[in-house]
Amino acid sequence: MLFSDKELREILFCEDEKFLEELYEKARETSKATFSNKIYIRALIEFSNYCKEGCYYCGINRNKSSVHRFRLTKEEIYSAAESAYEAGFRTFVLQGGEDTHFTDEIFSEIISHLKKNYDAAITLSLGVRSYESYKMFKDAGADRFLLRHETADSDIFQKLHPADQSLERRLKAIYDLKALGYQVGTGFMVGAPFTNIESFIKDIKLIREIDPAMIGMGPFIPSKETRFESCPAGTLEMTRKLLAILRLEHPKALIPSTTALNTIVENGRKLGILSGANVIMPNVSPKFARESYNLYDGKKSSGLEAIEGVRELNEYLKEFGYEIEFTRGDYNV
Ligand code: 5AD
Repeated sequence: MLFSDKELREILFCEDEKFLEELYEKARETSKATFSNKIYIRALIEFSNYCKEGCYYCGINRNKSSVHRFRLTKEEIYSAAESAYEAGFRTFVLQGGEDTHFTDEIFSEIISHLKKNYDAAITLSLGVRSYESYKMFKDAGADRFLLRHETADSDIFQKLHPADQSLERRLKAIYDLKALGYQVGTGFMVGAPFTNIESFIKDIKLIREIDPAMIGMGPFIPSKETRFESCPAGTLEMTRKLLAILRLEHPKALIPSTTALNTIVENGRKLGILSGANVIMPNVSPKFARESYNLYDGKKSSGLEAIEGVRELNEYLKEFGYEIEFTRGDYNV
């Protein structure tokens, strides 16, 4: 179903708890109709926090001098993938800053290695590159790509990024990825500075146009020593409303209950699932990497957020009627 603008405003401004509970229930029923009570897991390998970009909100942007920078070696990436595979993961997500050390050739080699040695899906989350680079990665065996549009309002986009970036450039990359046959994920931050209900409505409509396989959306959380360090975080309520709307509009999309949501509230992971999310991305990076991959302050990277917590995670999900699904979890039209 698609909501009218009027209905979207009604939901996004609504404070009536009963109405909202009904909305969340509808969203999780919709998720169950496609995915039953299964929650897909993705092994998140954070391979580098070097970044050539200066996104004003981001805790690993190039201008933040207090970040302890790291980059995993190929062997460290392979070893993280090996442990993840042993733990039952069948999707590897290679996520990192836009690190120029990783040339197209190096990435292609890593992708081919993983593809050759594991029966698993490979998802990339490494920012904007050229059509040719994306094609090389696809040819090397990559299946999916995550690239959030961050906000669909181009003026707000400009206020969140230095002048060398634009919404247009992001969208070109997203459409390049689609044209190459990737399963594409996009999404935005809820409550980033300058965003508002009208900009969220634009996000919802842009996501209709992109028609993505995956939708990643979590609250903005301030990061110290960035220009937005004193801005308030996005809220649980707004994130839940948007998750539910997107689930209802995209019954088959793979939608994570994000670490960011679980960082702003204790039971955020559960509340995300109960609003229609159906994916969790535990961290499988080596511990030293997890500690420095801080896109925002207070980011969780242990326990149920990590590889060592998979069994516990399953127990946790079962408490409210869900369970882990260990297969690849491709998008099915
Ligand atoms: N708060 C929440 N999410 C953030 N991201 C980057 N910085 C922050 C922050 N301060 C998100 C962006 C990016 C994804 C990898 O992490 O949406 O696309």
